[in-house]
Amino acid sequence: MRIDLVTVFPDYFAPLGLSLVGKAIAAGLVDVAVHDLRRWTSDVHRSVDDTPFGGGAGMVMKPEPWGAALDELLGQEAATASAGALCPSSPHSDPIGQTGLDDGAASAADVAAPTSRRPRAFFIIPSPSGVPFSQALARDWALADRLIFACGRYEGIDARVPLHAAQRIETAEVSLGDYVLNGGEVAALAMVEAVVRLIPGVLGNPQSLVEESHAPSWDGLLEYPVYTKPASWRGLDVPTVLLSGHHAKIAQWRRAQAVALTRLRRPSA
Ligand code: ADE
Repeated sequence: MRIDLVTVFPDYFAPLGLSLVGKAIAAGLVDVAVHDLRRWTSDVHRSVDDTPFGGGAGMVMKPEPWGAALDELLGQEAATASAGALCPSSPHSDPIGQTGLDDGAASAADVAAPTSRRPRAFFIIPSPSGVPFSQALARDWALADRLIFACGRYEGIDARVPLHAAQRIETAEVSLGDYVLNGGEVAALAMVEAVVRLIPGVLGNPQSLVEESHAPSWDGLLEYPVYTKPASWRGLDVPTVLLSGHHAKIAQWRRAQAVALTRLRRPSA
């Protein structure tokens, strides 16, 4: 998978070089490029924003740099292709490179499974007014060949940008949650991490995906509580069933805990 992140703050994405995502990049499981939006400005001030039509507080991101970025990232062919078509990317400006990766054959049901199909690409605009991000979206995107994130700042991106992009590539405005961040970068980081860990081979033990919160094979339940040694810590004991070695009873207890936790924390689920 190829992931492009377009931003006015490329440094926000330095953490992608760390941990599992960094290892996935180093192993060639995912190719990440971070681009400075100002590269696609044409004025001397390299301006990316302007005052809003209709008045109001703050500044709005101008459409032209985003259009130029999309033109270059999708390549010329995309300009005439139908929505959803994927064209070869341009050479990336700032690839993130790193260290080695654990091998791990991905076989669990919750890992994104490659299928034979035409290439899929998404243009994703993180926005507090977008559709809610979810594990289901992460699973869908993990099957894509390409994700392009457009990270807005200020009062957001001119509304014509997603309209225009949607004529060329599957486009989605997506929210990380019902709160407002200062820009799309933190949301994009979270979305990239949620997607990349689902790519086969990224997690050392794909079994971890099976009983985690929001996994389809876990019936939408939240994950049960987990414990490690010592069995007693500061007056708090690990539930005795977990020390019993009785696998069926442990599985039953975990399921009951997951159901109770889900009722408590997500009463409407
Ligand atoms: N940009 C600002 N707030 C955001 C949010 N909650 N989700 C996604 N992008 C955002």
